[in-house]
Amino acid sequence: MNILVLGSGGREHALAWAIAKSPLTDTLFVAPGNGGTAQIAKNVSNLNAESGEEVLAFARENDVELVVIGPEAPLVAGVADAVRAGGIAVFGPDAQGAQLEGSKTFSKEFMVRNGIPTAGYGSFDNAPDALAYARELGAPLVVKADGLAAGKGVIVADSLDAAEEAIRDCFTGAFGAAGSRVVVEECLTGPECSLLAFVSAGEALCMSTAQDHKRAFDGDEGPNTGGMGCYSPVPIVDPDELAEMQRIMQQAAEATAREFACDYRGVLYGGFMLTPEGPKVLEFNARFGDPETQVVLPRLESDLVEVMLAVAEGCPGDIGLSWSDRWACGVVLASSGYPGSYEKGKAVSGIEAAEALDGVTVFHAGTAERPDSGLVTSGGRVLCVTALGDTFESARAQAYKACGLIDFEGKQLRTDIGYRASIGRSAWGN
Ligand SMILES: Nc1ncnc2c1ncn2[C@@H]1O[C@H](COP(=O)(O)OP(=O)(O)O)[C@@H](O)[C@H]1O
Ligand SMILES: [Mg+2]
Repeated sequence: MNILVLGSGGREHALAWAIAKSPLTDTLFVAPGNGGTAQIAKNVSNLNAESGEEVLAFARENDVELVVIGPEAPLVAGVADAVRAGGIAVFGPDAQGAQLEGSKTFSKEFMVRNGIPTAGYGSFDNAPDALAYARELGAPLVVKADGLAAGKGVIVADSLDAAEEAIRDCFTGAFGAAGSRVVVEECLTGPECSLLAFVSAGEALCMSTAQDHKRAFDGDEGPNTGGMGCYSPVPIVDPDELAEMQRIMQQAAEATAREFACDYRGVLYGGFMLTPEGPKVLEFNARFGDPETQVVLPRLESDLVEVMLAVAEGCPGDIGLSWSDRWACGVVLASSGYPGSYEKGKAVSGIEAAEALDGVTVFHAGTAERPDSGLVTSGGRVLCVTALGDTFESARAQAYKACGLIDFEGKQLRTDIGYRASIGRSAWGN
């Protein structure tokens, strides 16, 4: 069958890579795609991926039978609703389900209503009430713009002054419309861990745990980014914590079926903090994570298209997931200056040599294929270099060996992806 993937990041290259491996896949389109997807699929550059009408029209014209929505924006914009209403299978929740990511208040209310462990919070549409709540709570605390803010709408404030400034910033437009409502919540402690699940008809089929590195520089210093590296599974999670996270994901899936007008059919991403009182949900996302996907999918041995079809058709009983028992580690190569301003158009070399190493796959994020100059950088995060290994350490070592073979001017990477996990739980101090 013909399949359309929406998006352009490393996540979408990993999705396209796994979809292209399936014998069920005929023509694969990625809109808009990147330099990596161009090698395994047809990139579609002139499609507005946030318009349900346009996506449906494209799918009809090209006999697409499955649409896979990568990023959150089209989900929140209701692209899944439009395509599904047009009779075409969609992997991704409708707009109501996507509100679990699109509004932090919606998500917190959902959690509290369903007894899902999460940080205590208040939600406010004006600064004076938010400030009063923050003063009552006391520092440290966390201030979150309610709406989609591309990972930049959360401030973890160590002092009350910093929290007050963050609240004022939100209400004076620092995050645009996303900040017209603000969530103020208690600060939790512990390692973070994501658990993604395929969710369909009230069932959660959990994938394996993954851990992202959000900060730009080694030692978790510097500004927040889209994610600088990731590994899966997470060795420091104990079996009781894993069981509790899986239980929470199932509880959330059942709640989607009970509460939402339409079935939630896609990925539910649970962002957890492993607190001394047990795992608590920091947030839900309505799609695959980036870069989590780049370390989770290489371990998936099942046919992703079969899985996605079962999810899209609301038949969770048909989903069979089998996983490699190898470890995966992914290191992001970024452009110098990222997440601030950076230059584009730098020639990229060495990918073939890197992929010749055992277990290594290079996922593209910000790359483009130029007819004159070949593969060049075109974004902040350029590549995610993933390696599989029989041990956590060997996966890390192989990923870094591969990173050393790839070059472009201004290449920037963290040298400590997975370092804390290799030390053990004590590295988090709890
Ligand atoms: N209650 C909390 N306590 C401590 N840290 C938090 C809390 N909520 C969020 N954070 C930190 O802020 C980051 C971003 O918050 P999150 O809710 O995941 O928002 P988003 O991914 O939309 O930016 C988290 O990954 C975590 O590091
Ligand atoms: Mg997050």
